[in-house]
Amino acid sequence: MSGHERFGEAVAHPNLALVKYWGKRDRALNLPATGSISISMGAFRTRTAVEFGSDRGADEVVLNGETADGGTSTRISEFLDLVRTEAGLDGVAAKVTSENDFPTAAGLASSSSAFAALGVAACHAAGLEPTTTELSLLSRRGSGSAARSIFGGFVEMRLGNRSDGQDAVAEQLAGAEHWDIRIVIAVTDPRPKRVGSTEGMELTRKTSPYYAGWVDTSGEDLRRARDAVKSRDLPALGEVAEHSALKMHACTLAAQPGILYWRGGTVEAMHAVREMRSAGHGAWFTVDAGPHVKVLCMPDDVDAIGERLRSIPGVTDVLVSNVGAPASLIDAAKEV
Ligand code: PMV
Repeated sequence: MSGHERFGEAVAHPNLALVKYWGKRDRALNLPATGSISISMGAFRTRTAVEFGSDRGADEVVLNGETADGGTSTRISEFLDLVRTEAGLDGVAAKVTSENDFPTAAGLASSSSAFAALGVAACHAAGLEPTTTELSLLSRRGSGSAARSIFGGFVEMRLGNRSDGQDAVAEQLAGAEHWDIRIVIAVTDPRPKRVGSTEGMELTRKTSPYYAGWVDTSGEDLRRARDAVKSRDLPALGEVAEHSALKMHACTLAAQPGILYWRGGTVEAMHAVREMRSAGHGAWFTVDAGPHVKVLCMPDDVDAIGERLRSIPGVTDVLVSNVGAPASLIDAAKEV
């Protein structure tokens, strides 16, 4: 058996939720309390290699050139266990090497691309041949948003209602070629986020008086977003994206203790987007569990929006993405 027979390498793009996932109905299986809709961010990618070896003592995880901390390593080993069990490789350790070509700490949804790329690479290395639906189910176990990063373009994560989670899976609404829109990102604080998404979701679910309202109203947001994607209606998609983001943050702010992800630059950037809109630019914002502001727009508006965001004192960088492709295996043979 050659050394490369148990090797797999894959790339995946992070995705941006327009209708947010915030809250779990089952923590062990990582089942969401609501569906969600996202776009793949093609300008950023995670590239991950996995090699299983019977001669290895324990899993070794290297992220962006550095050995991963204990918590991250454990999370990755537990995820790999799902693949090992499926492939009959129990007890066979792996080396995982992963690189992001975007700032990991900047909170640009790196867990979505991380577990999608890891799932694709690990399955290949283990000799499995999963369907995209199976890959999405697997990636969901690592991170809810990763279920969406298996697909490119515009993606919906289904809530599902089975207790085993087999219908809590993502599917593509439309490919990247369906609609050429852009995401302009105002980076407002390079520090890693202080409250991780699982912790934030759980605190919100348990203590926010608005949590029930958040869950109850998500179906309507999903319907609006689905229709807007289908008919390429940016004002309609932008409006529901802003609404979903503000509603998610209202819900986290009302937790006890309240979770405040925003910095000053976040608020200034949101005001700037609304001012630009009043001045005739098609621009709508969304904000995840972090301080950065992501702006949806058409390609023609990117320069004006980027310039305006850069002029805000709390904004440290501005990045732009197009709509991205699905996660995919890297064929080592074709790369040489
Ligand atoms: O996939 P997680 O567990 O990192 O949670 C993602 C949470 C948000 O990014 C805020 C929303 C979303 O739907 O991606």
